[in-house]
Amino acid sequence: MGTVIACAGKGGVGKTTVSALIIRQLIRAGDTPILAVDADPNSNLGETLGLDVTATIGDIREDFMRDPQSVPSGMDKTIYLESLVEQSLIEHENFDLLVMGRQEGQGCYCMVNNILNSFTERLAESYRHMVVDNEAGMEHLSRRTSGRVDMLYLITDYSLRGLRALARINEMLPGLKLTVKECGIIVTRAPEELSDAFSAEVEQIGLPIVATIPHDPTLLDFDMEKRSLLELPDTSASVVAIEQLMSAPLSA
Ligand SMILES: Nc1ncnc2c1ncn2[C@@H]1O[C@H](COP(=O)(O)OP(=O)(O)OP(=O)(O)O)[C@@H](O)[C@H]1O
Ligand SMILES: [Mg+2]
Repeated sequence: MGTVIACAGKGGVGKTTVSALIIRQLIRAGDTPILAVDADPNSNLGETLGLDVTATIGDIREDFMRDPQSVPSGMDKTIYLESLVEQSLIEHENFDLLVMGRQEGQGCYCMVNNILNSFTERLAESYRHMVVDNEAGMEHLSRRTSGRVDMLYLITDYSLRGLRALARINEMLPGLKLTVKECGIIVTRAPEELSDAFSAEVEQIGLPIVATIPHDPTLLDFDMEKRSLLELPDTSASVVAIEQLMSAPLSA
């Protein structure tokens, strides 16, 4: 199985943008197929990649919980749920998108969640890379009962508040049932030089800054025009920054 790359951080700092830029870069490098996972209930990774999102895992779970008898007679419910997840995959030329969707409401969803989680993990094995855009905080990652992340990018904008959110996430990591191989900070909307106060705070967290992405007005234009970030020009500042990041080898 290929690598699992995940982005986490405070709300609005650029997780979805970075996830889309990473997917763009992997496609450019021919490093496909990719499974893009939108793990944010207010999902918009699909939109950012120019896709229409029709079905989510949350919908599948809700429908099943509302009407457990919907399983066709004679069919095992695990196989039924797995086939629904497979149908919900949104296919693109070089990647597929899986949208987690809304959170569960009342009641025990453990059985359904376990089936869905383990199937998603098995599904990921047929891709070279899995890129997970998380919601703010670590809810999704912490709900996972197992699994590994090869590269966890902790995203912050150029603010101490953003950094402190990363510090909290970093402190939570050892308590999660998740093996994180590598972890690095990405600073978005970063100035050319980081201030001493910012750098001192980074040092306290004890994780390296692996990329800085300057303010990129092209991103805002694309956002306004609802254009796919996959179509960003090679020269835009954010693309160049992610290209540099992805061309650096992962440390052993
Ligand atoms: N480097 C950048 N330069 C300029 N604008 C940026 C940059 N990075 C992100 N943005 C813009 O900031 C906004 C928020 O970005 P994005 O949606 O990626 O954040 P997020 O962390 O996924 O947010 P949420 O927590 O709501 O999911 C978007 O409009 C995006 O275009
Ligand atoms: Mg987002």
